[in-house]
Amino acid sequence: MSNLISCRNINYQYDDGGHHNQVIKNLNLEVDSGETIAILGQSGCGKSTLLNLLGGIDRPNSGQIIINNTNIGSLNEEEITKFRSNNLGFIYQFHHLLKDFSALKNVMMPLLIQADPLAEEKAMQMLVKVGLESRVSHLSSELSGGERQRVAIARALITQPKCLLADEPTGSLDSKNARETLDLMMDLNQIHDNSLVIVTHDEKIASKMQRVLVLENGQFS
Ligand SMILES: Nc1ncnc2c1ncn2[C@@H]1O[C@H](COP(=O)(O)OP(=O)(O)O)[C@@H](O)[C@H]1O
Ligand SMILES: [Mg+2]
Repeated sequence: MSNLISCRNINYQYDDGGHHNQVIKNLNLEVDSGETIAILGQSGCGKSTLLNLLGGIDRPNSGQIIINNTNIGSLNEEEITKFRSNNLGFIYQFHHLLKDFSALKNVMMPLLIQADPLAEEKAMQMLVKVGLESRVSHLSSELSGGERQRVAIARALITQPKCLLADEPTGSLDSKNARETLDLMMDLNQIHDNSLVIVTHDEKIASKMQRVLVLENGQFS
């Protein structure tokens, strides 16, 4: 397997009115392509912060993050937005769908931004893969919690990202929907051969990943 993500000695702190809260401390992480990794850790230990760094949403104060052979610290805002849309998919605890748009339009959106003429066709196929062919025209506000998360998964994978970053993706679902959502993510991970970095506090979910890391005091313990 080849290396997809490499974090070298990254540090990150929040500065709140003179108070420095160093959340990530000299952290190193290697993710192979296709690999599945769970990140566990106490609430507030910095899991979401780390995913934001991996996704180029925040930048480390020091250290390097290399994804798919690109040092993302060297990219300007425009380049990083493009890089993100070509390489990464995101799933959050709350779906972040556009509520006045149909399931289909929500899934098409990342491809519309890339001006892909096949956006609608590809989005339809993706919605079939997540089992929502009967819901394509529903507004996201008309879908159940589990269905919305399926739309969010379809939207995250529509651009065929090399890595899916998921922050407590089942955190707001009941146990049945949580299990189904996770199974779906794992199945699609097999088909698409993307890497998966999933933040969770659910040890059962974590145990299904190839590697489990625990974040503690800004580092993996
Ligand atoms: N935008 C922010 N500004 C200042 N502090 C923040 C911000 N986001 C998170 N923090 C702080 O950083 C620490 C890590 O937060 P977070 O990464 O959200 O943890 P986790 O996802 O593991 O629960 C916490 O102490 C939190 O209060
Ligand atoms: Mg969090």
